[in-house]
Amino acid sequence: MNEYDSELVRSLLKREGFVFTEDRERADVILMNTCAIRENAHNKVYSHLADLKAIKKQRPLVVGVLGCMAQNLKEELTEHQPLVDVLAGPDAYRQLPMLLTSAIQSQEQGLDRKGLAVDLSEYETYDDVVPERNDGVNAWVAVMRGCDNFCSFCVVPYTRGRERSRDPDGIIREAQQIAAQGFKQVTLLGQNVNSYRHGSWDFARLLTAVADVSGIERVRFTSPHPKDFPTALLEAVAGHPHVCKHIHLPMQSGSDRILGLMNRSYTNREYRALVNRIRSLRSDIVLTTDIISGFCSETDAEFAETYRLTEEIRFHNAFIFKYSERKHTIAARKFPDDIAEPVKAERVTKLVDLQRRISHEHNRSYIGTTVAVLVEGSSKRSDSQSTGKTDGNITVVWDNSLIQSQPGDFVPVPILDASASTLFAHRRPQGQEILF
Ligand code: 5AD
Ligand code: SF4
Repeated sequence: MNEYDSELVRSLLKREGFVFTEDRERADVILMNTCAIRENAHNKVYSHLADLKAIKKQRPLVVGVLGCMAQNLKEELTEHQPLVDVLAGPDAYRQLPMLLTSAIQSQEQGLDRKGLAVDLSEYETYDDVVPERNDGVNAWVAVMRGCDNFCSFCVVPYTRGRERSRDPDGIIREAQQIAAQGFKQVTLLGQNVNSYRHGSWDFARLLTAVADVSGIERVRFTSPHPKDFPTALLEAVAGHPHVCKHIHLPMQSGSDRILGLMNRSYTNREYRALVNRIRSLRSDIVLTTDIISGFCSETDAEFAETYRLTEEIRFHNAFIFKYSERKHTIAARKFPDDIAEPVKAERVTKLVDLQRRISHEHNRSYIGTTVAVLVEGSSKRSDSQSTGKTDGNITVVWDNSLIQSQPGDFVPVPILDASASTLFAHRRPQGQEILF
């Protein structure tokens, strides 16, 4: 969502005459779009700010902090970080050209006026702003913004405000333009994407309508909440040839007491039943998840329930996080963050080890098959290799000498090797396992 928001910001600034540079030494303005979801995202921003301080000592520079941290830490960032000139929360990007212009002017006059726009809106969806897209293969499209779920650990409802959905006509028009520009894939975004609702439109109808747009070969969506999976949505995923066979289904915990404290509104049994419904519709749907361990008061026995459910469900992949207390949240106000850091770390390591084994087993089952891949471009590690994703969102890497391809092509790739995270069209030398 932040990448998408940066594309919106680029578009809003370009149309007011701002020009972009990749070279930060040449920039008059440096903006950071920030995330507040966990402590480490937060720390990254402070370390970048420290870098910018050195630059700002040498020459005039306007520094802006955008996004969730701007929203959540307005006092701290303005009072204790004299370096920051402009703050703009996720609903305030339309004001950014004005804020930056006045910050530049104020600096030229030797003044130090801060520009602050952090009001949340019940309506802002940036419906009329065409994002300035980077990638040539996948286009992000936010269909809704904000979240009303108030999971007790989560800062999003405070930084991104109330849920609001975009008009489906605008979304479908945007998807048509995206297809005309040559993008092959659309990823529909929302903090709580499957609670999309606009008049008589729900998410299943929207997903199908976008997948029907001619030229769009693959549609993905992220992130859904397990509470909003009506049969029509499952059927759209299982049945529509252009909807990817991948569902990211955040589980968070396998313990009913912890799920209750987290305000997740489902039980271990209900979650498992949803997984079974998905798999009975189509056994090849790839399931991935998010898990938090070390949430307030989580006992060893409750962690063991999460471990067992992860082992039982056998997700294809899982993002596993240590609980990180966030200001303003229900958990920060009501429950002590009482699981010691080493215990959190140990639980995360146990889950990561389990998941790596399961991911590796899943991936090994592709060896000897041929998968259809949407090509993204050069692999991170070598220009002589390319990478892309399967329909189920699994990363595939191959040597260019074996398969010639351009970003945006669909190519069949025979799989000869697999790590926990990647499928390969070549056998890797022994000992390379941990590299990927
Ligand atoms: N601590 C740890 N993980 C968190 N997430 C959200 N808030 C927190 C937090 N305070 C995780 C959840 C969510 C994912 C996007 O980030 O697992 O699904
Ligand atoms: Fe946060 Fe829960 Fe909303 Fe997801 S559904 S954004 S975890 S409050």
